[in-house]
Amino acid sequence: MKRVLITGGCGFIGSNFIRHTLKHYPDYRLINLDKLTYAGNPGNLTDVENNPRYRFVKGDICDNDLVGKIFAEEQIDTVIHFAAESHVDRSITGPAEFVQTNIMGTFNLLEAAREAWLKDATGKASGTGCRFLHVSTDEVYGSLGQTGAFQETTSYDPRSPYSASKASSDHLVSAYFHTYGLPVLITNCSNNYGPYQFPEKLIPLIVNNALGGRSLPVYGDGKNVRDWLYVIDHCEAILTVLQNGIVGETYNIGGNSEKQNIEIVHTICDILDEKVGLLPDGKNRRTLITYVKDRAGHDRRYAIDATKIRTQLGWKPKVNFADGMRRTVEWYLNNKVWIASVTDGSYREYYEKMYGKK
Ligand code: NAD
Ligand code: TYD
Repeated sequence: MKRVLITGGCGFIGSNFIRHTLKHYPDYRLINLDKLTYAGNPGNLTDVENNPRYRFVKGDICDNDLVGKIFAEEQIDTVIHFAAESHVDRSITGPAEFVQTNIMGTFNLLEAAREAWLKDATGKASGTGCRFLHVSTDEVYGSLGQTGAFQETTSYDPRSPYSASKASSDHLVSAYFHTYGLPVLITNCSNNYGPYQFPEKLIPLIVNNALGGRSLPVYGDGKNVRDWLYVIDHCEAILTVLQNGIVGETYNIGGNSEKQNIEIVHTICDILDEKVGLLPDGKNRRTLITYVKDRAGHDRRYAIDATKIRTQLGWKPKVNFADGMRRTVEWYLNNKVWIASVTDGSYREYYEKMYGKK
């Protein structure tokens, strides 16, 4: 039995990962440490909370006593580190939390792993079979022009407080490999979409607003490009790297599915028009699109070259963009109670600060 500490498992990717892994990997025990920030929702995992191979611990990755206790109590041999402040817009208005969780939190986890795995009674390094997988982002590489794609060897050039904090954490993880021999793996993935994504990110925000007949805010000229990957494909890539990746290496993960933001918004509008009918005034949902002030320092284009994980580990995405978007929009349509539960008072406050009154 692998004894896995998952951090940030109540968020978007973490909760999908936990559900998927409990279902398909019977030899994994998962301990989910999550602080339950605004982005963490235990309701994302109600269907697995009684699974005997799952345990939830509410707490902060920056709390070294708690993290040390979990390592000892659960004999943790694997860490999959998702916990982070993850939203670029919030990092622009409040960067401190990003430095704290993304940098200091990662540092604290690395120290706990080093303590637990590399210091045996004789003081000699052990850690055989242990793995620390750090989940990171393509945003650490900066912004691309019209051509090219990020490779594992691309120099880091983070440009938002979010990506700078993730880049710092990647460097710390890498340093623990080179300095202490901690058995780490790093994954840098492109934009994910799918069920349980908090509606502050582009896709769920647009779905939610389009359903409610509200305006659809598109930053700048709407032509910024992201490379979109269905969340379960990301989860499978992480499991592939965990099982077959070479310790100390980085693997880029992407969907090979570059889209301009405006294309994403059009796709969502068209799926909803087809599934739930036109707006009450008979217009289609594209009429709700509103171009708003651009994000500060808005990265123009991201694209991932996933050749390494494909050729060396045999992973490639299974869900194409058209199917993934349909599945995703359908999930939000079937889970309106979930949307209502996460868009409570504090979400409304955030929304009004960002976009003005609805
Ligand atoms: P999310 O914001 O949905 O979830 C983050 C989770 O971490 C939440 O459950 C939150 O409560 C928890 N958390 C935050 N601070 C914590 C702390 N101090 N201690 C313990 N728990 C804490 O994020 P996500 O979209 O699921 O992203 C997960 C990871 O994947 C992040 O590290 C992110 O950088 C990375 N990533 C995300 C994407 C994407 O498109 N969403 C793409 C590439 C990489
Ligand atoms: P987002 O989902 O925040 O992910 P990231 O910034 O990490 O790529 O945004 C995706 C793209 O959509 C990004 O170019 C910013 C843009 N965007 C909008 O145009 N309108 C919005 O309301 C939001 C949240 C994002």
